[in-house]
Amino acid sequence: MEVVICSSEQQIAAIAADVFETLLRTSTNPVLGVATGSSPVLIYDELVRRHVEKGLSFAHAKAFMLDEYVGLPIDHPERYRNVIERQLASRLDFAPGAVQGPDGNAVDLPAACGAYEEMIVDAGGVDVQLLGIGTDGHIAFNEPASSLASRTRVKMLTEQTRVDNARFFDSLEQVPHYCVTQGLGTIMDAAHLLLVANGPAKAEAVAQLVEGPISAMWPATVMQWHPHVTVLLDEAAAAGLRLADYYRDAFTNKPSWQGL
Ligand code: F6R
Repeated sequence: MEVVICSSEQQIAAIAADVFETLLRTSTNPVLGVATGSSPVLIYDELVRRHVEKGLSFAHAKAFMLDEYVGLPIDHPERYRNVIERQLASRLDFAPGAVQGPDGNAVDLPAACGAYEEMIVDAGGVDVQLLGIGTDGHIAFNEPASSLASRTRVKMLTEQTRVDNARFFDSLEQVPHYCVTQGLGTIMDAAHLLLVANGPAKAEAVAQLVEGPISAMWPATVMQWHPHVTVLLDEAAAAGLRLADYYRDAFTNKPSWQGL
């Protein structure tokens, strides 16, 4: 796991955008894994800027979302499909149908979850998966006590996640209780995991992710088993790391030929 402690959210966005830009410019059929929430917003703005100013194209790419609320009306602004459309897809040159997400309104949710897994496999698997982390250590919506081998399925959100996400809704009551989420096993199949976190509220989850024991109670810790993980943090999110200086030294003195 490579930990990069950044001086600002802008630096996190620039480094994350570099990873996606390299993939987009070197692969003939890149598959992006995209996240929602507040953490990726500046990254998406930076990708849009590179598209507009540098001609970075997404026309040959596919993208898969991590998760979706169950039961939000199709036109609800906080339905993740609509969030990704607004923040990313509609501002870039993706081909029609190239951005896909789990269907939180399917009549047969388990069948839709299985079909979503197949779509990702048929696309060749995710090359770079962008991730945020919940204050309770979730990635996607794999809440504490999730199976470390789980696949896309319906999950109930914890009260903590509903409270955390209430800022996107008019009230806590409006935050759905259920979601459809890629499983930890699904996420672990991506070739490169790129997790971003900022702010003091994420410090405990980040410390567990990087330095804690692997445990279903901190689901992100499963990433310690993954061979290619990059964790981009601001100082506040890195505040609980015992080896922060070591990570700083390792990144500063990294050989120039070694990418992220
Ligand atoms: C969203 C998702 C979640 C968020 C996490 C952090 O698609 O998968 O795991 O990444 O809840 O959310 P923010 O970035 O809003 O703090």
